Amino acid sequence: MSDTILRVEDIRTYYGDGLILDGVSLSVDRGKLVTVLGRNGVGKTTLSRSIIGFTPPRSGRIVFDGSPIQGMASREIVKRGIAIVPQGRRVFASLTVYENLAIAARKGPISSDSAAWDLKKVFELFPRLEERRSQRANTLSGGEQQMLAIGRALMTCPKLLLLDEPTEGLAPLIIELVVKALQELRRSGVSLLLFEQRVEVALRLADVAIAMSSHGLITFNGAPADFPTHEVSAVPTLP
Ligand SMILES: Nc1ncnc2c1ncn2[C@@H]1O[C@H](COP(=O)(O)OP(=O)(O)OP(=O)(O)O)[C@@H](O)[C@H]1O
Ligand SMILES: [Mg+2]
Repeated sequence: MSDTILRVEDIRTYYGDGLILDGVSLSVDRGKLVTVLGRNGVGKTTLSRSIIGFTPPRSGRIVFDGSPIQGMASREIVKRGIAIVPQGRRVFASLTVYENLAIAARKGPISSDSAAWDLKKVFELFPRLEERRSQRANTLSGGEQQMLAIGRALMTCPKLLLLDEPTEGLAPLIIELVVKALQELRRSGVSLLLFEQRVEVALRLADVAIAMSSHGLITFNGAPADFPTHEVSAVPTLP
């Protein structure tokens, strides 16, 4: 089994005629947390959507767990073991906490190398969700909705979890809860690809940090300690 769970090779992704990612390459090793840092509009969400197949790249390759996945339907990609916590959380507002989690539960067998997440394990990670299990998602606070979005993704028993700005719009104390959960997940062995704008938060968590600038241009890929914080803050946003 290779040490690399995900390899993105020179992908180009468009929205209509607009080239958004102009040749992005990166990889994630098994059990590691890799963070992609970049300002508004550089293409973080587009990269996450490219990987999970919502906005497939027009060229390049994506290899997950040893097999090429580019061009596959998202449903198939999720079945193979990638889950996403989308930007803005997007939980099902009118469903209860329990229903949001139950609906996401993996159907079918789990491969021997993915963790078997279930309701009990998600409630252990986020006790607040258990307290609110019968509440509708739209009555939860932003932080609780973020926990629910993470819990829902875990219910698919992923090998790789993509998290698109999970701390966006949260108060500092709640950010710490999310950080703690991500630390626990990392210890549990799931591979993590975290897209963030909060440089300090992400560098504390990451094994590898990547700086992204407009059109997905990667300007740094290495140890968090060497991360050029000043460079990322100077990255201009796209018009
Ligand atoms: N559906 C779309 N149609 C056309 N252009 C889009 C669409 N979604 C995003 N874009 C453009 O693609 C570029 C990258 O956007 P993307 O959302 O991937 O950036 P981001 O790094 O996630 O930004 P943020 O930090 O604000 O979430 C931006 O210029 C954006 O305007
Ligand atoms: Mg985004």
